[in-house]
Amino acid sequence: MTRDLRLGVNIDHVATLRNARGGGLPDPVRAAILAQTASADGITAHLREDRRHIRDDDIARLMAEIAIPLNFEMAATSEMQKIALTHKPHAVCIVPERREERTTEGGLEVAADQNRLADFIAPLSEAGCRISLFIAADPLQIEAAYRIGAPVIELHTGAYCDFHAEGNHAARDAELLRLVEGAKRAADLGLEVHMGHGLNYETVTPIAAIKEVRELNIGHFLIGEAVFSGLSTAIGEMRRLMEEARA
Ligand code: PXP
Repeated sequence: MTRDLRLGVNIDHVATLRNARGGGLPDPVRAAILAQTASADGITAHLREDRRHIRDDDIARLMAEIAIPLNFEMAATSEMQKIALTHKPHAVCIVPERREERTTEGGLEVAADQNRLADFIAPLSEAGCRISLFIAADPLQIEAAYRIGAPVIELHTGAYCDFHAEGNHAARDAELLRLVEGAKRAADLGLEVHMGHGLNYETVTPIAAIKEVRELNIGHFLIGEAVFSGLSTAIGEMRRLMEEARA
C-alpha cells in the first residue's frame, strides 16, 4: 500500500549503541525488520565516512534482509558513490557531512556546487536509485535541486525542532513557515518533498500536516523512545500522530 504520508525509520542509533560496546548487539538489522513489521514504509541508514554507527556490512544485510525500500544516506564522495552503485538501494539521499559534527547539522549546498552534484548523481540515477537531496528550506537550494534533476528533496527540520525544544516559539513558527513555503515551492516545481531531522511526538504534527510532504524520516527520537515503550509502540504512536495530522 502506498500511503499519502510515508514513515521512514532511521536505525542509525541502534548501531550507535552496538558500537559503544563492540560486538554485534543490538543489531540494527533486527530493528529494521521489527520496524517493517510495525508498518514502517521504509528504512533509512546513513553510512558515514567514519562509520561511527552504520557499517558497510549493515548496508549489505539491510539490502538482503528487508522487504521495504532502503533510503541510503551518504555524502557526495566517490567512496560512497561506489558503495551505492554496488547495492543499488531504492533511494539515495545525499547529505552534507563533516567529521566534527555530532549529527547532520545543515543542509547540502546545492546552488554553489551544482555542476559537481549533477555529475555525481547522474550514474546513481542511471542505476535506478531515486535521488534525494537533504537541503534547507531555502528557495535558492530548492531551485538548484530542481535544475540538476533530483526528483526528491528532503527539507531539514532540525532548526524548527531545536527552537521548539528551547521554547523559542517565535523562531520555531518562523522556521515552520519557511518549511511550509519551501514545500510549496518544491511541489510547484514537480519535486517530491520529504522532511526530517529531530522530529518527535511534539514536533511532528505541524510537519505532517503540510500537504505537499510525502515522507518523514525519523530516527533518534524513535530509537530513544523504544527504550521505554518498545520500538513497535513508538513507531505506532508516531504513525498515529502523522495520520491524525493528515486528517
Ligand atoms: N533525514 C536525514 C537526511 C538525516 O540525516 C537524519 C539523521 O541522520 C534524519 C532524517 C533523521 O534524523 P533524527 O535521527 O534526528 O530523527
